Amino acid sequence: MPSITTRHFLQSAGTLLAGLVLVACGKQEPPAPASTAAAPAASAPAPAAKVYVVGTDAAYAPFESQNEKGEIVGFDIDVVKAVAQKAGMEVKFVNTPWEGIFNTLAQGDRDFLVSAITITDERKQTMDFSSPYFDAQQLMAVKKDSKIAKFDDLKKLKVGVQNGTTGDEVVTKLQGKDSTNIKRFESTPLALKELEAGGVDAVVADNGVVVHYVANNPTSNFKTLADSSFAAEQYGLAVKKGNADLLAKLNKGLADIKSDGTYNTIYTSYFGTAPGAVAAAPAPAASK
Ligand code: ARG
Repeated sequence: MPSITTRHFLQSAGTLLAGLVLVACGKQEPPAPASTAAAPAASAPAPAAKVYVVGTDAAYAPFESQNEKGEIVGFDIDVVKAVAQKAGMEVKFVNTPWEGIFNTLAQGDRDFLVSAITITDERKQTMDFSSPYFDAQQLMAVKKDSKIAKFDDLKKLKVGVQNGTTGDEVVTKLQGKDSTNIKRFESTPLALKELEAGGVDAVVADNGVVVHYVANNPTSNFKTLADSSFAAEQYGLAVKKGNADLLAKLNKGLADIKSDGTYNTIYTSYFGTAPGAVAAAPAPAASK
């Protein structure tokens, strides 16, 4: 049985309170007029369709973030909306902190996750992933005047990462798990703010997010550095381990939006080029 956390307690208390309020209000309502005319059949409520609750850590532009109105928007969101439309599913996005996001899946609080989640062998042991929908890799952000030239230069320096991400993993591997020079933040923007403030020498995070931040924060004076040691990563949608039904729906939806061009349209609207534009260029004629 899952342990009762403070959040759960508060949620239950809140529900209880809402219930009491409803009861209290109900008492003051005048008795409903006896309905004589039979309600038209059309007004009979349709059986409620399942709404899939999708967890996302919405501090990760351009993949997922909150706009001025508090709405969750981004590439991942558009992809999932398009997938849901194809699959005839109704979805609702719920902002979910990265730390603990995988637990919400295991506990059944979220039906699936979209959060620029890299498919890794380790994660595959505790959850199932859709087919990949995005290619990514790590990227360093450093101050423009920094002497840092390659990932190995970070061995003894202070590095900011988002806790529990693949960026955290590569830096932990470089510096050793007992290193006190790794500063782990709750979100990637917080790590980048710390770089701006001079509290760390570099930040290692997903390329898309670093590039987006640097482009949108010109006054922070960052530059980006790639490194050949960074492995290729792929994002997937995560479902609770064993949820084969949902996984099949999501995979079918992904395949559909890829084949009908919807995926490319979304991709281009966020990244300016079609996915794999380089790789898709005609290969030179084989000469051997
Ligand atoms: N791709 C990285 C990982 O899976 C980072 C993802 C962080 N996503 C987010 N929405 N904060 O570890």
